Amino acid sequence: MAKAKRAAPSPSTTSAKGWKRTKGEKSSDGWVKLSKGRTTSTSVKAPPGPMNTVLEHIGNTPLVRCMKLEKEYGLDCELWAKCEFYNAGGSIKDRIGRRMVEDAEASGRLKPGDTIIEPTSGNTGIGLALCAAIKGYKCIICLPEKMSNEKVYVLQALGAQIYRTPTEAAWDAPDSHISLAKRLNAEIPNSHILDQYANPGNPLAHYDGTAEEILDQTGGQVDMFVAGAGTGGTISGTGKKLKERLGDSCTVVGVDPKGSILAVPDCLNDENRLEGYTVEGIGYDFIPDVLDRELIDVWTKSDDAASMLMMRKMIRTEGLLCGGSCGAAMSEAVKHAKSLKAGQKCVVILPDSVRNYMTKALSDNWMIDQGFIDNDLIQKKEFTGWWATKKVSDLEIKTPLTITEDVTVRGAVDLLKNEGFDMVPVVNNKGDVVGVVTEGNMTARLLSGRCTPDSQVTECLYKSFHKVKLGESLGALAGIFDHEPFALVCTDQRLFSADSVGGGKNCKTRSVVSGIVSRIDLLEFISGADSPGSPMKK
Ligand SMILES: Cc1ncc(COP(=O)(O)O)c(C=O)c1O
Repeated sequence: MAKAKRAAPSPSTTSAKGWKRTKGEKSSDGWVKLSKGRTTSTSVKAPPGPMNTVLEHIGNTPLVRCMKLEKEYGLDCELWAKCEFYNAGGSIKDRIGRRMVEDAEASGRLKPGDTIIEPTSGNTGIGLALCAAIKGYKCIICLPEKMSNEKVYVLQALGAQIYRTPTEAAWDAPDSHISLAKRLNAEIPNSHILDQYANPGNPLAHYDGTAEEILDQTGGQVDMFVAGAGTGGTISGTGKKLKERLGDSCTVVGVDPKGSILAVPDCLNDENRLEGYTVEGIGYDFIPDVLDRELIDVWTKSDDAASMLMMRKMIRTEGLLCGGSCGAAMSEAVKHAKSLKAGQKCVVILPDSVRNYMTKALSDNWMIDQGFIDNDLIQKKEFTGWWATKKVSDLEIKTPLTITEDVTVRGAVDLLKNEGFDMVPVVNNKGDVVGVVTEGNMTARLLSGRCTPDSQVTECLYKSFHKVKLGESLGALAGIFDHEPFALVCTDQRLFSADSVGGGKNCKTRSVVSGIVSRIDLLEFISGADSPGSPMKK
């Protein structure tokens, strides 16, 4: 039976009760003029057609002009953002998730009921898990601890099984996310690592998709292209096509966070070499196969604070609900685009969405804790009570008690009960604090069966604890207690080894726990008998 054709509604003549619109005239910028001369940005473009699955809503992302940033940073050129967070799974990695799965299906490698395993910083996992959920594959994701819980919850909701690995594990260490994925692959029959680090489908998804869209959306004029590099698939695939079409009239700028070693020349990586950094998804401690560094004209190193603050600025001023690596790319783009002239175009890739960072960079408290403060965007809370200028050392701090990592949950419970504490710091064999075990954490883990009384306390560690120094003000401590129940009081200890006593060159500084302070300690101090504000004093 022939289907009735539905006439496409004409936005310029649509009327609704009380909202009559006369025939609008379309202006050159695509806006529609209303009868009273007002303009609306309501789209006059045809909506995408009906889709069989949401996988069809991957790619064809919007390119949005950032005029506020152009003005703020004094740019003569046009600054354009390719908004990849509008992909179905929320990131640019949906493109490669779909491409790698469909290539593997086409080659006969992936068959119904098979298991997809992938080591990822999260977004590729989400792209793959989305495909797996729709197409009916099993999906296992190996993810470093650093990556946000928001990504974990999305992965879980998509039915993926998740294994977390230590962030500090080098890529080739046995406990890294990459090594774990390989072990699981060897153990699980009919499982496949599609391997975004080496799979040609990764850069090809951008060569065939992202780059073509950018060329189309800019009328074939891209004078500068700026993208962060993780696996390098985005910058290599897009950069290759842009260079083929535009030659050297397009400058490709690669953004690598301080701490990573992808940038060329290698001396660019000296500052904070291989140290941890906060921004997720970009940078590595090895050079992935799919990263073609020959294609990149200029490498630039991004900084955590500038990246996170730029992310918040893009949300506040341009309304782009993007994530931290978008901030990294844009914070570097506004520096490099200064060399462009009026009429030239700089295109910046925004890989993922703020959805991944709701409890991180979207939280003012988190930003303040990290020291990412900016008077216009994030203001630190100031406390003005008589107590605010007093010091942590003025509090009555309990004698420190620490336990080592090999203590069992049963042992920790006995200790807390006998000593009358409800939490205790855990130190490793070097004496560094690795976390805190709290009554709450142990209860949650034991009751849900995620540990047993014989498990080591490391299975129930609370790792996002805060450290304060004895000289820190109680005002600053109150800021921490706004969102954390306790803080570890630490003092720096300088440690000289036999080879360092003479010159003192190799002296190491270690942070030693001198106690724990909790909200009740501050409350007791403020309301205590000796305090100026205490009714007992009157
Ligand atoms: C948030 C985010 N930004 C940027 C990238 C980098 O993309 P690519 O791996 O294509 O270099 C990734 C990759 O995982 C990412 O997750």
